[in-house]
Amino acid sequence: MSDRIYYVTTPIYYPSDKLHIGHAYTTVAADCIARYKRMRGYDVFFLTGSDEHGQKIERTALDSGTDPQSYVDGIVESFRELWKKLLITNDDFIRTTEPRHKKAVQALFQKLYDKGDIYKSFYEGMYCTPCEAFWLERQLIDGNCPDCGRPVEHVKEESYFFKMSKYQNRLLQYIEENPDFIQPVSRRHEMVNFIKGGLEDLCVSRTTFQWGVPVPFAPGHVVYVWFDALVNYLSALGWQDGDPRFEHYWPHTVHMMAKDIVRFHSVIWPIVLMAADIPLPRTIFGHGWLLLEGGKMSKSKGNVVDPLVLIDRYGVDTVRYYLLRELPYGDDSYYSEDDLINRINTDLANDLGNLISRTLGMVQKYQDNVVAEAGTPQGPDNDLINCAMQVKDELEQHMERLDFSNALAAIWKLVRRSNRYVDETAPWNLKRDPNKKERLQTVLYNLSEAVRILTIWCSPFMPVFPERVFEQFGIAGRRDLQTWDSTGEWGLLPSDLRIETGPGVFPRIEVERDKEKTVEGKKPPKEKPQKPQITIDDFTKVDLRVALVKDAEKIKGTDRLLKLELDLGSETRTVVAGIAQQYTPDSLVGKRVVIVANLAPVKLRGVTSRGMILAAGEGDRLGVLTVEREIPPGTRIE
Ligand code: ME8
Ligand code: MG
Repeated sequence: MSDRIYYVTTPIYYPSDKLHIGHAYTTVAADCIARYKRMRGYDVFFLTGSDEHGQKIERTALDSGTDPQSYVDGIVESFRELWKKLLITNDDFIRTTEPRHKKAVQALFQKLYDKGDIYKSFYEGMYCTPCEAFWLERQLIDGNCPDCGRPVEHVKEESYFFKMSKYQNRLLQYIEENPDFIQPVSRRHEMVNFIKGGLEDLCVSRTTFQWGVPVPFAPGHVVYVWFDALVNYLSALGWQDGDPRFEHYWPHTVHMMAKDIVRFHSVIWPIVLMAADIPLPRTIFGHGWLLLEGGKMSKSKGNVVDPLVLIDRYGVDTVRYYLLRELPYGDDSYYSEDDLINRINTDLANDLGNLISRTLGMVQKYQDNVVAEAGTPQGPDNDLINCAMQVKDELEQHMERLDFSNALAAIWKLVRRSNRYVDETAPWNLKRDPNKKERLQTVLYNLSEAVRILTIWCSPFMPVFPERVFEQFGIAGRRDLQTWDSTGEWGLLPSDLRIETGPGVFPRIEVERDKEKTVEGKKPPKEKPQKPQITIDDFTKVDLRVALVKDAEKIKGTDRLLKLELDLGSETRTVVAGIAQQYTPDSLVGKRVVIVANLAPVKLRGVTSRGMILAAGEGDRLGVLTVEREIPPGTRIE
């Protein structure tokens, strides 16, 4: 099997509702890996589409007073528009109502029937229409669908059945022998348990409604919508049309989705393929859910979660960044617009954006717009360079596992290292000393090279801003300096480059102005009265110290508290701070904060806090006090 071919798919979404940022997440993630693999020289085919048949769509269409086909045509147009706005680079868009798809579904159904793996019987049981899933009475939870919790319906009809049970052991063996087949590993365990619980034969046709692919040999029967939908991964490659793309791309396949539909993809789908003697896809990857406070995302929550609104308000790079950074590998995460704004302001505006604009600004001011040649490395130079090379390895490993969040966290290690490099080398001081001209050139070269490398790494995640950075550094026409491989070697950026500064690539979001729609009735902060006078003795009782944030994490079960590990020079302290709504844990690491070191310990949510960090303001306008310059941790403030 060649390892340079890569076929990545998203689920084909139901056009029963408008898409929300949960759907956008999967598609952006698939786009990110598609872009990345292309940059690594892979021959990529990236597929998305729409799942247009079934009882749910038929009902939704009839409820809205139209026929199913006109109904789906309208919604599918909005899918395409959304993907265009999100700069999704899919190679094809498959609709299950297209002739090329129907033909493949019918051929596969016929093949399994001819083989004796599909037989006619009678179905009686429960059906969850929103999930389009069959359930047995004993599988229900409180009488509702065990997957989505909604009410089920009793169904009784003549049906064709697919002999899933026959393949149960073969599937288990396959999963055991191919540990990468179902990822992440938690999903594999769930599926193995599910299969070991015993597989029933699956009902694969319906007779009580019309909106589906007709069963070729049985008038009145339409193919069960999941059997129909899964076949999209084959039909889009022209499996029944003698299309060479099928032979070429299949089965170098990664199916991406959220955990809600992993069962369909890792039980029904492989068995259908086994029965049809088609090799199985390489990986079924099930990520977690984006949740809203109060449960899984739903339409009734309004347009805050409409990706189009977010893109218009914040820009496409930032929305993509937020989604890919925020959802941890395999786990769920809560969506909030405050977190989104925080990510933009800290990670993008403060960290990356600032690094880029500082670098360009200094080259402009100190060297008349020219990035000059670097001299011999000294001081922190090698550490910066080593950091870049280490991050590249780490980043590539995370991408292989489809761990987008940690891939970005790895990139941000170099962002932070580079910002620290600015502080360490203090170019503004070098500028004042005519003997330090070469040193200044070296420092600004290294910073420019770090920005080039970071920009390339970011481009599968955020495809818009890199063009602007390359332009500003005068290398827009130099594709060779924008390749992934070119980030594996430090120093490829040519010297004597003329830069051209422009507006910053990641402006800060001013919360009051931009959130006016969602934050209502906000009042200006109340003025607080001055406290009674104290003497210097009173003040010196307070032991204020510089502390370096080594580590930070959210405290489970709260949305306000962070647990910080602080370096105080001679000791490490745990301190709890109520700043989780204003700061992501990562954005604090490496900051030098001010702490009241002799405050009596308190226990908050089971964590003992020894000290308090200082911050000004409240709500959206809260800022932690930090120390300018690299003052050693533990230094007393007096
Ligand atoms: O299931 N968080 O379509 P669907 C993360 N037609 N991802 C989410 C999400 C959330 N809150 N909500 C939706 C179907 N998704 C079938 C698929 S494939 C052969 C047929 C994403 O419109 C995620 O990828 O219900 C999830 O698996 C998918 O949308 C479900 O989309
Ligand atoms: Mg769904």
